[in-house]
Amino acid sequence: MTGKTKILLVDDSPIIRHVGNKILTKKGFEVLQADNGSKALDALRNNHVSLIVLDYYMPVLDGLQTLREIRRFPYKEKSGIPVIILSGEDNPAEISKLIEAGANDFINKLKLKATPEIFLEKVFGLLNHQKEVEYYKRMKLSHTLCPEVKEFKKYVDDCVNKYFQGETLSFDELEAKIITEYNNVHEGNVTEIIYDIPSPDDFIATHSVNSCFLTLMFGIYQQWEKEVTLNAAMAALFHDFGNLSKEVYSKESVDYEHYKKHIDRSIDFVRKSGLPDESLQIIANHHERVDGSGYPKQKKGDELDKISQIVSIIDTFDTLTTQIGLDKKMMVKDALRRLLSWENQFSPALLKDFNLFSMQFEFKPND
Ligand SMILES: [Fe+2]
Ligand SMILES: [Fe+2]
Repeated sequence: MTGKTKILLVDDSPIIRHVGNKILTKKGFEVLQADNGSKALDALRNNHVSLIVLDYYMPVLDGLQTLREIRRFPYKEKSGIPVIILSGEDNPAEISKLIEAGANDFINKLKLKATPEIFLEKVFGLLNHQKEVEYYKRMKLSHTLCPEVKEFKKYVDDCVNKYFQGETLSFDELEAKIITEYNNVHEGNVTEIIYDIPSPDDFIATHSVNSCFLTLMFGIYQQWEKEVTLNAAMAALFHDFGNLSKEVYSKESVDYEHYKKHIDRSIDFVRKSGLPDESLQIIANHHERVDGSGYPKQKKGDELDKISQIVSIIDTFDTLTTQIGLDKKMMVKDALRRLLSWENQFSPALLKDFNLFSMQFEFKPND
């Protein structure tokens, strides 16, 4: 007895079992697997299972036949187990047969892989874990990003391609990482990227992607115009690209003067990439502070536009929570508190907006 909640995952596709198993074990469930209905019934007889995820089309016994057998078990603790049907089937006649047979919910196979949050919301819902259900409901907000992200990827690809045409590939390693991250985004793992804390070596790659997506989400949350959101997100993505030289971080003490020049190097990259002036300005301003204590131009107050300031706040927030030059990354709540204490450096109104956004979004359930 491990004490973990057991979920029986029944599918003849090893890929679906692999994906489902990965999603569920990551959330602390013990996953039993079966590749057909008959084996599923055996597993059910021999185990205490709390939930069944059942494929529709399978050899030996299909999902409907298996479901009917499950509901015929003599004891309620077996016959009453909630069942989620996993299928690409959307024929209403088949769906109603499944409902009649006692299916509790349905999940499209494609969604299992592309949007695990929708699957997890159903799983936790049927297990009556209300707190998690609320969490995954909020996570669905990130899926409103999908069309944006698609367009965003196209946009970024164009820029990166332009830069590469006839240019020496100087940022290859980390750019490759960024592009890999985009591919993950394309697969729908937006939340994974935002919440995964990287190893320090991957700091810039992850920090860039984190900042980019936080900016994208903040823009959507605040209903900025699409163009404004994209330009800000692109700026957030490239703001520290000038830091990609490894020596900046490999030294025991950071060469601060060299470090400061990363802004010019980032701008140089962006200029070659053909990004708009709006993005360029945000990058130029990302270390400026409203009290004039920033760099490189010690700009003050009204000299800094709202979007630049927000990207600065996001940049700082992600730096605090992603560990750079620190022994330990900060917890989200501590980072927010720290940010709020810097009301001279950042506009208090924008800090408040970011704080509200972070509460709305709840970065991680345990932070
Ligand atoms: Fe920076
Ligand atoms: Fe940064």
